Order: sequence, then structure tokens, then C-alpha cells
Amino acid sequence: MEVVIVDSPAAGADLAADAIAQLLRAKPAAVLGLATGSTPLGVYDALVKLHEQEGLSFAQARGFALDEYVGLPADHPESYREVLQREIVGRVDFAPGAVRTPDGWASDLSAACLDYEEAIAEAGGVDLQILGIGTDGHIGFNEPSSSLASPTRVKTLTVETREDNARFFDGDMAAVPKHVLTQGIGTILRARHLVLLAWGANKAEAVAATVEGPVNSMMPASALQLHPHATIIVDDAAAAGLAQADYYRYVFANKPDWQGI
Ligand code: PGA
Repeated sequence: MEVVIVDSPAAGADLAADAIAQLLRAKPAAVLGLATGSTPLGVYDALVKLHEQEGLSFAQARGFALDEYVGLPADHPESYREVLQREIVGRVDFAPGAVRTPDGWASDLSAACLDYEEAIAEAGGVDLQILGIGTDGHIGFNEPSSSLASPTRVKTLTVETREDNARFFDGDMAAVPKHVLTQGIGTILRARHLVLLAWGANKAEAVAATVEGPVNSMMPASALQLHPHATIIVDDAAAAGLAQADYYRYVFANKPDWQGI
């Protein structure tokens, strides 16, 4: 696990976007794992800039979202299908249908989850997965107590997550769906490179437990300790609880130039 502490969310977003750009240049048909929420928005802005100014192309790439709400109207602006369309997919040159979200509108949700797992496998697996982290330590929507081996499935959101996400629903927690489809922790761990981003003091506790605490289903993001290539990019505020922060800074400052994240 590599921990990179950056001066600002913008610097962290650039680092993640550069890793995606490097991947796409080496492997134009790469499979990207896309996250929603506030955290990755700077990454998407940086990718759009690279697309517009340097011709970075997504034309052969594919993408899979981490999760989707269940029960929103199909055209709701906060469905993750709509959010990804607005924030990244519609701003670059992805081919039509190249980015998928779990089907939160399916009449058979379990079958939709199975279908999603199969689609990821058929695409050859995810090359680089962007992740945010919930204040309760969730990745995707794998809430505390999620199996560390879980597949894509239906989950019930914690009250904490629904409170956190009420800001996307005009502050109305009652409007935040209770149920979601989410890639499981087992699914996420199969991606070849995990890049978890966290900004702000409200993430500091979860970040410290993820990096320096025990691997524990009550802190789902701690499963990243089991992954051979996990990069945690945090700003100073989100790094505030890390006991070994000086060491992580020293490691990154002394990293050879040829070695990306
Ligand atoms: P946020 O959400 O990026 O909106 O903070 C992160 C998450 O819930 O995974």
C-alpha cells in the first residue's frame, strides 16, 4: 500500500488523472473503474482537460461504475448513470455504451448483479479503479460488516451514509434511497490497481483506520491492505490521523522518477 499525501485535492486529482492517462496511452482499450460522489470530480475535470488539450482518448476504453441507487426515477439527475454521464462520459470520447452502471431499475436485482460481475469479467477485469471512502469507511457502497469477499449485490445504506449523501438531494435525507447495488469488496479487490482518494478532515478517522488499523469488515476500506497495488492519495487534512505520515512523505519524496503511482 502506498500512501501519497498531497497539498491539495487538486494536486491529488492531477496525480490520479496522470495515472489514468499513462494507462490509456499504454493500453487504449483499458477498463476503468469509475467512482461517484464529490471526491473524484477533480480527477474527471483533469481528464477532460487532458482530452481537450492533449488529445487523450477514451474511444477504445470501457468503464464500470462502482454502484447505483435502487428506486430512483430512471432519469433522476442523482442516479449514478446520470452523474457519470454529466461528469465524465459525456465530456470525453467514450464510445456509446462503453460505460456501464449496475442496473438499479432491473425487475430482478440479483440477476442484474450477476450480469454486472459477468460483464466486468468479459471485459477482462478493471485495470484501474478510482475509489472514494465514506466517513464510515465504506468503499463503493460496502457498508461496515460487508464481507471482504463480497460480489456485486444489493446493500442497505447506513443512516450515516444517507445523511452524508442528503446534500445531493437538497438536504432531504428521506429522498436518499435506502438500497443500492454495489460492486462487492471481492469485486473491487480484483481490479489491477486501486486508487483511493480522500480529501478533508471528515475523512481523517476512516483513512487512519484503513491504512494503519487492522483488516476488518467493520472498516471496509481496510481490505485494500490485502491488495498488491493500492495507492491512497490524501490531502493534509485527511492525513491528519496517520501516525506514520512523515514516513509516507519521505517515501514519496524519494521515489524514483520512472516509477509512477
Ligand atoms: P464523497 O463520498 O466522495 O461524496 O465524499 C465518498 C463515498 O461515499 O465513497
